[in-house]
Amino acid sequence: MSRLAKFDVVSIEDLETADIERVFALADDFAAQLERGEQITTAAGLIMATLFYEPSTRTRLSFESSMHRLGGAVISSADMQASSAAKGESLADTVRVVAGYADLIVLRHPRDGSARVAAEYAPCPVLNAGDGSREHPTQTLCDLYILRKKKGHLKGLTVALCGDLKFGRTVHSLIYALARFGANIVAVPTSGMDVPDYVLERLAAERNYSFSTVTMDELKSLAGGLDALYLTPSAPHQMALFTGDESLRKIPVGEPPVALDAFYVTRLQKERMSGKEASAADYVRFDARALRTSRTNEAVVMHPLPRTNELAYELDADPRAVYFEQAAAGVPVRMALIAWLMEKAAAASAVARPVVEPIRFKAEPPPRCANLNCITRFEGSYLAPRFTLGRSADTTVLALKCGYCERELKTEYVGHARSHRYYRFDENLQGYVQQWIEEGSLAVFDSVKQAEEGGYEPYKRGPQREVMNEDEVVRAVESLADQVIADVPDMSAVSIVGVVSRGAMLALRLRDLIGSKTKVFPPCAALDVYKPDNALHPIDGAETFSVEERAIVLVDDVINSGWTVQRAMATIWQRGRPAAVKLAVLIDRGHRAVPIRPNYVGKNIPTSRTERVQVRLAMTGTDPKAKSHDRVMIYSIVEPMKAPEAAH
Ligand code: CP
Repeated sequence: MSRLAKFDVVSIEDLETADIERVFALADDFAAQLERGEQITTAAGLIMATLFYEPSTRTRLSFESSMHRLGGAVISSADMQASSAAKGESLADTVRVVAGYADLIVLRHPRDGSARVAAEYAPCPVLNAGDGSREHPTQTLCDLYILRKKKGHLKGLTVALCGDLKFGRTVHSLIYALARFGANIVAVPTSGMDVPDYVLERLAAERNYSFSTVTMDELKSLAGGLDALYLTPSAPHQMALFTGDESLRKIPVGEPPVALDAFYVTRLQKERMSGKEASAADYVRFDARALRTSRTNEAVVMHPLPRTNELAYELDADPRAVYFEQAAAGVPVRMALIAWLMEKAAAASAVARPVVEPIRFKAEPPPRCANLNCITRFEGSYLAPRFTLGRSADTTVLALKCGYCERELKTEYVGHARSHRYYRFDENLQGYVQQWIEEGSLAVFDSVKQAEEGGYEPYKRGPQREVMNEDEVVRAVESLADQVIADVPDMSAVSIVGVVSRGAMLALRLRDLIGSKTKVFPPCAALDVYKPDNALHPIDGAETFSVEERAIVLVDDVINSGWTVQRAMATIWQRGRPAAVKLAVLIDRGHRAVPIRPNYVGKNIPTSRTERVQVRLAMTGTDPKAKSHDRVMIYSIVEPMKAPEAAH
C-alpha cells in the first residue's frame, strides 16, 4: 500500500499552475541544499520503481538519483526485456504487481496512452516519463524551470520550437505549458513533421491558443533582419494557423519584428517513423551563426537531449547553450516533484478530478482507435476501446477522441440502434447524436458496408431499381470464373478468399464454378475485416487455411471506396506471404478513394456516391427449385441533411 496519495502525472495538464509553481519553489530549495552538500531525508522509507520499456539516460537516472538524494530507495528492472514483459505480461498486470513493491511508479513506454493505462491500473501514483510520441511532462518541468531561471519569467517569452514537432513528445507537453504560462510559440517544423492536429485542437479548445508555423528559411530571414514576418500574435493567440489566411502572417511595413528568447531544438525521432517522414538530410542544424543577429543574440538554445546532428558541438561552450543545465535540472526538479507528491499525500484536501464518461456504443464491434501506436492496439485483450466526443473542425465527420492516446477517429457513418437506421454524418445530426449518446443508442460505422452488414438500413431509401436480374448475375459470376481460369496458369496454386458476407458467398460460387470447369477446387476462406482477431477462416469444410505462397483471389460483391478491399489485402499479408493477391469483384462502381483496380470484374455499373448498389445472392448448393435470390438493385440514399427533422 503506497504511502503517497493516488495522484498521477500522465500529462503536464494534470498539474495546476500553482502545483508547478510549488514544484519550482521546492526545486530551488533542493538545488540549494544539494549545492551545500546537505543530507536530505525527505523521502526516507519511500520506494520508487522505474519501469522503462524504452531506452533512457536522463529521465531514468535523474529520477533514480532524485529518490536517492531524497533518502528514499529505488527498485528497477534493468531491462524490461529481462522482466516478465518478455513473457507477455500485460502493462496492467505489471504495474499492479509493482505497486505492491513500491510507493511510486515512473513509467516510460513506446506506446501512446500507455501512461494512462498504467495510471488507471496501478493503485500508487504513476509519473509519465514519456509515452510514445504523446507527452513527457516531467521533461517539460525541467524545460520550464531552466527557461524561467534564464529569462526570469515565462509570460510573453517567444520560443521557437524546431525540428521534429510531430513525434517529439517533449514538445507536445512543452506547448501545453508555454500556452498556459502566456509564452508565444513559433513552430519551425522540419518538412512533414508538424505539430499534430490533436495537440492543436486541444490547445484551441482548452486554451483558446494557437501559434504561427514558419519554415526554417523564414525563421532565418527573421533572424537575419528581414522585416518579413509577424511571428508572435499578441493575446488572444489566434493567428494564421486556423484561419489559413496568409496575410495575417505578414507584418505591416515598419512594424518591429520580435526577438526570439529561446530556440527549443529536438532530434528526429527516427524510432517512431514509418519511413515516409523527413529524412535526416533535411533536418535542422544549429550552429553558432544562429545566435549572431540582434534578434537572436539574447536567445538561449534548449534541447531535451539526446542530440544527434542538430546541434553543433561548437555551441556547447556558449553560455546561451543551456541543454546540459536542462538535463542537470532533472535532479532538483524531480526531487521536487516527489516531495510535492508527499505534500499532497499529507494534505487532506485531495480533490477528485472530473472524469468525462466514455460513449457507450451499440454497434458490434465498437470503433477502434485509428492510431497504429495507440496502446489499445497492443494491449487490446483487456482494454476496451474508449472514446469521448472529439473536436474536429470538419463538420462532415463525427470526431471521437480516444480515451488513451487522445487521437481523433473521424467517422462518416452513424447509426441509431433502436431504429436500426444509419446516416452519413453531417452537422445537422449533431444534436441527434448527442441525444443518442445520452440514451446509449449511438452506433458508428467506418463504411456503409459495415453498417449494412450489421443489419442497419439507410435512413431513407430513394427509388429502387433492378440493374441485374438472375440471368445477368449468373452470367457475371460465370464471367468472373472464366477470367480467373484464363489468367491463372496453375489452378492448384490458387486459394479463394471472400470478404464477409456476400463476398464470401460469391467466393464459394466461384470455387464451385472453377472446380466444375477445371476439376480443381481451390481452398476457400471467408475474411471479416471487422474481426481482426478472427479475420480469416475456412468455409469449404477444411480445418485450416493458409495464404503462404498461394495465389490468392480476393472476392467481394461490390467495390465502393476500396477501403474494405484494402483492409482485406492488408489482413491477408499479415497472415503470411502469398505469391500474389488478385481482386475479383462482381460490380465495379467506378469511384474509389484508394488506388485499387480489380483484376476480374463481373460488370461495371457506374453510380454516383449517393447511390447504393446492393447485391442479393442465392447460396451455393441451393435447391434448384427454390426461388433464386440473385439480383442487383440500385437505390439512392436520402441524406438526413435534406430532412433533419425526421432523423429518427
Ligand atoms: N530528455 C530525455 O527524455 O532523455 P532520455 O531519453 O535520455 O531520458
